[in-house]
Amino acid sequence: MRPFLCRFPGLKPFLLSIIVVFTFASKILHLFQHRRTVQGSSFLLYLPTFFLTDFLVSIIACLALSKLSGSLGIAGFAIVTFIGVVDVGAVSSQFGFFYVTGAEVRWNAASTLASDKAGFKLLLSGLMPFFAFSTLLLTLSWILAPLITFILGSWLNADGNAFVGLSLRSRQCLPLTNKPKEPRRRKYLALSISLIALFIILGINVYRPQVPYDHMSGTIPFTLAAAFQKQNSICLSDQQLFPLSDLVAPNLWEPENGRYKGWKPGSQPSAVDSATLKAPPWAPESWPAGFGRWMKVYNSTQDTLLAMSGVVCPGGNLYNTYDPVLDPMRITNLDLDVLAPVQEALRDHAVPIKHVFLIEMESARKDVFPLKASSHLYQQIIDAHEPANEEDLYELNSRLAAMTPVAEQITGESGNFNLRSDQLRNNLTADSWKDPSAPGMGGINVVGALTGSSLSFKSLVGSHCGVGPIPVNFMFEIEAEVYQPCIMHILKLFNQLKKEGQNEATGMRSQKWKSVFLQSVTGEFDNQVQLSLQMGFEESIFKENISTASAKHWHNGMKEINYFGYEEPEIYPYLKDTIQYANANGERLFLTHFTSTTHHPWGLPAGVEVEDYWPRNGFASAHEAMNKYLNSVRYVDKWLGNVLGLIEETGIANETLIVFVGDHGQAFEEDHHVTGTFENGHISNFRVPIVLRHPLLPRLEVHANATSMSVVPTILDLLINTNSLNDVDKDVASDLIQEYEGQSLLRPYKNSHNGRQAWNMGIINTGGTMLSVASAAAPYRLVLPLTRDFTYAFSDLSKDPHETDLLEDWDFYSLVHTVKRKHGHDAAHWLKDAEKVARWWVNERKRLWNYHEG
Ligand SMILES: *[C@@H]1O[C@H](CO)[C@@H](O)[C@H](O)[C@H]1NC(C)=O
Ligand SMILES: *[C@@H]1O[C@H](CO)[C@@H](O)[C@H](O)[C@H]1NC(C)=O
Ligand SMILES: *[C@@H]1O[C@H](CO)[C@@H](O)[C@H](O)[C@H]1NC(C)=O
Ligand SMILES: *[C@@H]1O[C@H](CO)[C@@H](O)[C@H](O)[C@H]1NC(C)=O
Ligand SMILES: *[C@@H]1O[C@H](CO)[C@@H](O)[C@H](O)[C@H]1NC(C)=O
Repeated sequence: MRPFLCRFPGLKPFLLSIIVVFTFASKILHLFQHRRTVQGSSFLLYLPTFFLTDFLVSIIACLALSKLSGSLGIAGFAIVTFIGVVDVGAVSSQFGFFYVTGAEVRWNAASTLASDKAGFKLLLSGLMPFFAFSTLLLTLSWILAPLITFILGSWLNADGNAFVGLSLRSRQCLPLTNKPKEPRRRKYLALSISLIALFIILGINVYRPQVPYDHMSGTIPFTLAAAFQKQNSICLSDQQLFPLSDLVAPNLWEPENGRYKGWKPGSQPSAVDSATLKAPPWAPESWPAGFGRWMKVYNSTQDTLLAMSGVVCPGGNLYNTYDPVLDPMRITNLDLDVLAPVQEALRDHAVPIKHVFLIEMESARKDVFPLKASSHLYQQIIDAHEPANEEDLYELNSRLAAMTPVAEQITGESGNFNLRSDQLRNNLTADSWKDPSAPGMGGINVVGALTGSSLSFKSLVGSHCGVGPIPVNFMFEIEAEVYQPCIMHILKLFNQLKKEGQNEATGMRSQKWKSVFLQSVTGEFDNQVQLSLQMGFEESIFKENISTASAKHWHNGMKEINYFGYEEPEIYPYLKDTIQYANANGERLFLTHFTSTTHHPWGLPAGVEVEDYWPRNGFASAHEAMNKYLNSVRYVDKWLGNVLGLIEETGIANETLIVFVGDHGQAFEEDHHVTGTFENGHISNFRVPIVLRHPLLPRLEVHANATSMSVVPTILDLLINTNSLNDVDKDVASDLIQEYEGQSLLRPYKNSHNGRQAWNMGIINTGGTMLSVASAAAPYRLVLPLTRDFTYAFSDLSKDPHETDLLEDWDFYSLVHTVKRKHGHDAAHWLKDAEKVARWWVNERKRLWNYHEG
């Protein structure tokens, strides 16, 4: 018996096979990625339902390719071809992405990336695995084509016969001529079996819980189409009630006290009250950008506030703003004294801060700033090498000791590599930067900090503006008004408040600030140029500015080292110019430099020696990514030394505060089965260094589970307390510092206050899919899914500091149950609170950012 139905000429069997192979391969990979998160028994029970749509897609493709006549046939063929091409592209990307990162590809994220030039280049960097997988799967389709055509054909043949009586439509597309008549009995038997199987599967399908199985059974190309649907959302107007209501009850409210504006969450100041409250005595005649919420006017006809600037929700006068008095999560530590050693130093000598440099360090994990022999990472490296004898270990240690000597000096944390003699250590680091500060001096090193977002630019907004970024995908922040003034906006206000005609002779306190942003890589990615303007930088220099022949320091042989741009030193002459210009013209600088070499793919300039920090044996690619990363870490360590050297050479070191902060960490296969920051909640993406360096401040190690949200208030606190501002500016700064959510790292950190914990929310790349939830008051951590496509994950960092053994569950209550069993009542209680607070926080961010779509 020949299958009559799918007897297509030429291409058709191949095309059908492509649809079947790619659809099923996609589903199998998808299920494989979720294998850890569902119980084996449920998985087996629901297994057939996962493939239901894939099967239907295959059948429909087969019918469409069958002998439809005329234009209908051509249309069917065209549609199937189109889906086939889409499938090949999508499924190969899915496999390529999995191969590179271990994560699931997100189509909406990919489409946003592809629409941006630098992002497109990032996608292109994954081209090799893409082609490898498409070739593999196409070959498989070619080989399986006859078999698949035969199986589907015979199946439809048997059932098709039976269908004839039921549907006219089927009759049209299933020509039944020259078909030997089968016995009726067999025909009905086949139909009954198929129908019964179908009903059973549909039955299980109905009973199947929606989460996670709906996500798990998503079928290409439907999942792809869903990504392009826009959600409608409107602005949230009122703050939602804080879920832990006893912690914000009126008996806990705090009255105004001096500069402190009080704390009364849930109270309802009338619009006119807050309008007048918000006009501080130091208000300038006209507000510079960034102070939108002080620019509101009261409309008495409507009894509402109107925004004078900024982006408001469409369709109304709604304009939400931040108010520290009403923020149930805000804990201030400004009532505590400045850390004692800092006070002593300030009594003893002047600590001028004329300039502030903020070095935002790309993918800077805390455990490589600096690398230390006591770290988990170091132990992993040693274990991988299995050094045979003392000599090997010694040799390895001397290589590792030369990786981050500058970070050791910046933080004051020693690597402790046990190198037998100081002489060797000095030899190893002979050509690196040497800290000239007096013994015991150097500034504040923060241990225990986490980033506010594992998406670089969201993190940048957090560290420059003291805000929580918005938990939605990509940079809505660029279209919106930042809900707090960024540090650059404040400096601009200082400039504006200075009377014209004051000259340099009266010292730095009367000089004007200039804010400059510098990086050697592109500003086109994610519209960073616009973000820089939005955050208030007066001048920004990117790859695009230095790559033209008319650029001041353009030279032959400028080489791009990754898909983002040039090696770091290309920015050096511009940095030098900026400092020299400021020196010559009596300007105070706020300068941000964003490092870049430590970004994937960790390309190094030609000629830079590549060390084998990890052994080369085993699989060709084992440890390859991490090894490249560590080499780029060494390279950037040296570069930071050069920047510090320049600051000394230009004579500004003793009057410059340098803030080092990591934008986020970076997970590798050595840390977790999913690598990179994309939709990966692992802790190795979150621990970052924060250092506030000043050669005249005492060397301090501060233990605080803060986030980079604390950077702005800490800078203000330092400017105020080192007496680096004139009276007017100091007054303004002392008032403004009370507006920020983050605590100052210049004072003892409050882990909790009146039962309220100091929560640390971390938005996970790309923003709207999952949230990292931690608290300074507890060692636990929750990764909260914001869509139905991800599991909840819990860890107890006191027992498992590197999250090698995460508890994951699709169902929150089942996770709480497991946590209670394994970690006790307190942990389970914390988890329940964390989930509620985090969901509240997500909505509150959307409200504060006046978030809306479309
Ligand atoms: C205040 O509201 C009224 C009523 O909606 C409107 O007519 C008026 O233009 C508003 N005033 C301002 C300053 O926007
Ligand atoms: C350090 O370098 C000097 C000069 O290059 C050399 O004489 C000395 O032996 C080295 N010391 C060690 C411990 O390697
Ligand atoms: C909190 O800080 C301590 C150091 O003070 C650190 O050991 C711990 O890992 C930090 N927590 C997180 C989540 O990083
Ligand atoms: C650098 O280039 C961007 C556009 O790519 C531009 O907006 C900016 O003004 C330029 N900066 C300088 C200092 O010219
Ligand atoms: C910086 O201050 C230290 C300590 O007061 C002093 O020894 C050093 O010479 C100063 N450096 C410069 C460049 O003024």
